[in-house]
Amino acid sequence: MDSNATKPSILVIDDDNDLRYSLKRVFASHGYDVIEACSAEEGLEIAGKGQPRVILLDNRMPGMSGIEALQHIRGASPKSMIILMTAYGTTQTTIEAMKFGAFDYIMKPFDLKKILSLTESALAASMDLDKATSETAAVASPGVSAEDVEGGIIGNSPAMQAVFKTIGQVAASDVTVMITGESGTGKELIAQAIFKNSLRARKPYIAVNCAAIPENLIESELFGHEKGSFTGATNQRIGKFELCDGGTIFLDEIGDMALPTQTKILRALQEGEIQRVGSSETIRVNVRMLAATNKPLEEMVREKTFREDLYYRLNVVRVQLPALRDRREDVPALVDFMLKRLFAKGKVRVNAIAPDAMAILNSFNWPGNVRELENLVYRSAVMAQGDTILVKDLPEELLESVGHIPDVATANIAVDEDLSTEQVGKAVSDPLDEAYSSLRQQYSTNLLEHSERAMIARAMKELDGKQAKVSTLLGISRATLRKRIEQYGLEESAV
Ligand SMILES: Nc1ncnc2c1ncn2[C@@H]1O[C@H](COP(=O)(O)OP(=O)(O)OP(=O)(O)O)[C@@H](O)[C@H]1O
Ligand SMILES: [Mg+2]
Repeated sequence: MDSNATKPSILVIDDDNDLRYSLKRVFASHGYDVIEACSAEEGLEIAGKGQPRVILLDNRMPGMSGIEALQHIRGASPKSMIILMTAYGTTQTTIEAMKFGAFDYIMKPFDLKKILSLTESALAASMDLDKATSETAAVASPGVSAEDVEGGIIGNSPAMQAVFKTIGQVAASDVTVMITGESGTGKELIAQAIFKNSLRARKPYIAVNCAAIPENLIESELFGHEKGSFTGATNQRIGKFELCDGGTIFLDEIGDMALPTQTKILRALQEGEIQRVGSSETIRVNVRMLAATNKPLEEMVREKTFREDLYYRLNVVRVQLPALRDRREDVPALVDFMLKRLFAKGKVRVNAIAPDAMAILNSFNWPGNVRELENLVYRSAVMAQGDTILVKDLPEELLESVGHIPDVATANIAVDEDLSTEQVGKAVSDPLDEAYSSLRQQYSTNLLEHSERAMIARAMKELDGKQAKVSTLLGISRATLRKRIEQYGLEESAV
């Protein structure tokens, strides 16, 4: 790969000398390294050796066609993003291009600005792919199997086991699945798992984030449009449903979809038919739909902001992902998995977490669920100096929100010895108790008392045992101070 090279490489495969020349000039002037091939056969050979980031592939060439080459290139240079250059109006070719894994297609003739911006998107996607594959590199370290690293869905809690079971049951059928759950609970991951385990696993999978596409563009994005159907529609566009024919479409954030689009989605679901924007022609599509949202759809149905009929149609099978705080038992395995993955990627030197730091993670509420945990593990692993995440490496906000008292953990006053004989508290249930459970074990005492004792001892030491000053400093009466000194046995150790 050229990941270390300064110039990303682009391979242009076209039998048209003039076109290759112009493309080379424009890309070179934008800092790209351009390699040329004048036939599919030659291009295939170069791609295999050079693994270019982006390949611009003409379809109609003497000898092997672009579509044919596309399928071979996918094997020879799997990480390259391929843009197929097709003649205007060859819809079937563009559909096939997408089916065979092209990044996108462009219709000839095109203007150079357009191909430049498309190539830049392909480059960005290629970088993302690099990132994602290194994230899922199957470097199995102890405790995480290669399968786990690849599949990447962790969950031994009964709630997650139930989810996996449902996935297994529904994956092989074409049933519509509605995945719900708070933000960061893994909805997208589950949609991918359903797809990967389905009979359509070798067919296209397209995820559409309904919240990210402006309302006026979503229909064209989903169903395509005819040239001239609205201002800016300079070319015909094939929509995601058509491109995804035979495959799976994941409608993410469906709760953010406007009502008119909902109506069209319903039709696609019920009749298996769509219409491009600006066309009266009906196109049959065979698409399996998966949908996800973190919005309260039932409430939206009551408020009539979500179509009731669509709701029932999508909600044939419901996968409700539990919030992380409701399956805390998965936290250690998730942390372990995330650390091993970061370590395998060479991103951090840390591969373990101290038990007291883990206890704190276990007690947190995780409003941002697994995503938040993932970010936190990364951040703490980067902060850690040794090979283990310690309490001090956790972000302060987290420590504060679980009520952690840094002084207790970090106080360097030797006041512990005579407390070690006290009984360790029995099994804990309250979250605050959970946070302190390992510290409690460490100090074998009531933490509040421990911190009070530590504070008094420190003040006594620093103020040379002068009780008047200590009581003023700590804001307690001398009588209380005396009582505490006696209670904690500080008479000797403090002065
Ligand atoms: N069970 C899991 N095991 C491992 N990683 C997980 C798990 N669940 C979620 N993640 C990771 O947490 C992050 C968030 O997951 P994902 O994007 O699927 O959440 P989401 O439910 O779609 O969130 P949102 O509603 O915000 O879109 C991802 O990086 C994902 O890989
Ligand atoms: Mg999501």
